Amino acid sequence: MTKISIHRDQSAGTISRYIYGHFAEHLGHCIYGGIFVGKDSRIPNENGIRTDVVEAMKKIHVPVLRWPGGCFADEYHWRDGIGPQEKRRNMVNTNWGGVTEDNSFGTHEFMELCRQAGCEPYITGNVGSGTAQEMSEWVEYLNSDGDSTVVRERRENGRQDSWGVRFWGVGNESWGCGGIMRPEYYADVYRRYQNFCRQYGDHKLYKIACGPNGGDTNWTDVVMKNAAFCMDGLSMHYYTVPGTWENKNRATEFTEADYWETLAGAAEMDNKVKMHAEIMDKYDPDKRIGLIVDEWGTWFQVEPGTNPGFLYQQNTMRDAMVASVTLDIFNRHCDRVKMANIAQTVNVLQAIILTKDEKMVLTPTYYVFDLYQHHMDAKELACSIETETLGTEKHSLPGVTASASEKDGILTVTLSNLNPEKGEEVLISLQEDASGAEGRILQGKMDAYNDFDNAPLKTETFSDFELRGKDLCVRMPACSVAEIRLRLA
Ligand code: AHR
Repeated sequence: MTKISIHRDQSAGTISRYIYGHFAEHLGHCIYGGIFVGKDSRIPNENGIRTDVVEAMKKIHVPVLRWPGGCFADEYHWRDGIGPQEKRRNMVNTNWGGVTEDNSFGTHEFMELCRQAGCEPYITGNVGSGTAQEMSEWVEYLNSDGDSTVVRERRENGRQDSWGVRFWGVGNESWGCGGIMRPEYYADVYRRYQNFCRQYGDHKLYKIACGPNGGDTNWTDVVMKNAAFCMDGLSMHYYTVPGTWENKNRATEFTEADYWETLAGAAEMDNKVKMHAEIMDKYDPDKRIGLIVDEWGTWFQVEPGTNPGFLYQQNTMRDAMVASVTLDIFNRHCDRVKMANIAQTVNVLQAIILTKDEKMVLTPTYYVFDLYQHHMDAKELACSIETETLGTEKHSLPGVTASASEKDGILTVTLSNLNPEKGEEVLISLQEDASGAEGRILQGKMDAYNDFDNAPLKTETFSDFELRGKDLCVRMPACSVAEIRLRLA
């Protein structure tokens, strides 16, 4: 049996809703086909944007969407993606599959997507191959209502008022595809670029500097030391890649040992957050600067027969577990982690949505975001968990993981039983009287997945629990993620 105590008097603070953020890059069929099909498509759309995908995003209340990359961002010139469609410049997407990018999805289309989906935009500027002027004018194009050539241009392109984009990334992976820079050099480049990203009117910017690759603490240290004073966020990228980079796991065919290796890889996020948070604490003891984990998730082999540059992979209950383990870590560290963006929204890596022409399917990962949405903007409550360690000799982790939060008198508890074979009884000490418990659950075999013709996995009503005074006793099936909501006395 697992025992959990929820400590209502211990909290890391409010769980930022942006922890439940997403990321859409010009990569494979994420944007083209997955999100944007064009106005003339037979696939139902509004202004070229797939209605089914937008509806799915709305149901989980996607709070923020990062765009246009990724590596693509540092080759993207925003002026190529505005104005009449037929005049837009074509380029080759050298990072992702060498396909022609016709720029039919650009700034206006992205802002329209955010409007339809009801989420905030997070735009990454081109630092690697662009100029400070180019980025500065992109901010002006989106945020200014002044009288200037740039603003007049926006108006000629059909948008009268500024949109007011708050989140701006200054380059992506500047240590790698964004320019192979050294942290000393990047810190200076960051200082210069961010300086020309101006505030127009009330549109205050939240400026995010490129942060480390996984465990690169030197990058964090140097960039924080030299540029903390002019940043609001520092990004961090960490992917779960079981196997070796050259010989990664398949997404759907894997062993139980692979399963544990994957989940242990996801749990490593805790160490990554802690090691960078410790350095950030040195330069920013008041935690003004957010750690922004703007790329995370599983990275497997591409599905056989698909373009290797498109990073298309299926998504099983193993991915769902990676999502719940990771979101629990972000919730626990909500004093420092202020945003996270799973990679990527549609058809790429750990996608929440897969599409094939007019068909769309929601993945197990999607349903974890569905189950966790009540944690957004709620007060985190510390949980101590006594549970068995599971896994293999090489890769082990606690068999049950959880998050608890409180908002408007409602306690939300999310629980995951990682055991792929056995159910687990979980006794939760609420330390408070509660009533009216309601539950939902996602469960399935570790390698179960939803396909276009057969999608058995989804969130369902769950009632295999009972309140016993101040305790809640839950019987979690094997390989499951559940949400239980209770009214506090
Ligand atoms: O998400 C895929 C790629 O992974 C992104 O473009 C890049 O930033 C990272 O290396």
